[in-house]
Amino acid sequence: MNQDDWKAKLALIRDSFLSTLGKTDAAAIAEFETHYLGRKGELTLLLRDLKDFPIEERKILGALGNALKTELSGALDARKTETGAGVVNLNKSQFDLTMAGYPFPKGSLHPLTVTANKMYDGFQKLGFSIAEGPLIEEDYFNFEALNFAPDHPARDMQDTFYVDLKDARGKDLLLRTHTSPVQIRTMKSQEPPLRVVSAGRVFRSEAVDASHSFAFHQMEGFYVDKNVTMADLKWTLEAFMKDLFGGQAKISFSPSFFPFVEPGAQVAVSCVFCKGSGACPVCKGTGWIELLGAGVIHPNVIKACGYDAEKWSGFAFGAGIERFAMLLYGIRDMRMLYENDLRILKQL
Ligand code: DAH
Repeated sequence: MNQDDWKAKLALIRDSFLSTLGKTDAAAIAEFETHYLGRKGELTLLLRDLKDFPIEERKILGALGNALKTELSGALDARKTETGAGVVNLNKSQFDLTMAGYPFPKGSLHPLTVTANKMYDGFQKLGFSIAEGPLIEEDYFNFEALNFAPDHPARDMQDTFYVDLKDARGKDLLLRTHTSPVQIRTMKSQEPPLRVVSAGRVFRSEAVDASHSFAFHQMEGFYVDKNVTMADLKWTLEAFMKDLFGGQAKISFSPSFFPFVEPGAQVAVSCVFCKGSGACPVCKGTGWIELLGAGVIHPNVIKACGYDAEKWSGFAFGAGIERFAMLLYGIRDMRMLYENDLRILKQL
């Protein structure tokens, strides 16, 4: 075959391609494509013949052939679009489009985290900021600076988990039994006035039951300023409870003892379930639910933090976060909060 024969064949392919393309419908277009442009298609085979031409001629003819290939591919694509070829007909598809998809579960925050966040929100609205403290604590911060006498029963082994390491004062380190040490750490490192809340895990050597655990969570709060009194404590806690449980919520104070406050109080909120009407298993018919310990910070604690106790006074409170979570979400058994049962966790 010489150059001219090759060019004539090329022209013939072009003519027959373009004259039949317009008559080719969607069903026939794949076969049409194979016929001209497939591995053994007319144009492909003609291009393959180029190997027998001398290099100079091969260059020129090859350029012509490739240009035609581009032209025809373009025309073919246009025809495919025009006829709708290649579009999957969903009605005839082998897929059942009505079948349910695979579930794609979302994660969620743990109820205790959600509760702590709500409590933080409530106190932040009242001007409190957030602090944190370590879980492994020194005797000094957990007890001594909080005015626990050296022989106070809460230091006894049965309540406190000790760690087999000594602190700089030569005392055994321990797992903090409450969040109150954060009061000391914060006061020692910052100047008053201070309004601070701090949530976190605490540990006590206790048997697990529906309302106890060896590891649980507390939120500590305190306010130190000039002339802070019990009245400020009452106002703050009531505003917080109304924000969290609704405007109907009331609080009641009864006397209680904690070494680091004087006077000390046990604070209860009006039962959020029966509104105090009785015959209620949660408040046991009393109409009140005990929620936290609180009081006016003992002058010994103020002094231990290096503040002038004549000038500065404050209130403090400590609340179990589990207790709040149980009230907010109607959880009857605290253990449900620790088992990580997805059926519980997914509900939030
Ligand atoms: N730390 C106490 C406890 O764990 C709770 C508490 C009571 C904290 C009175 C306070 C407070 O700040 O003023 O039982």
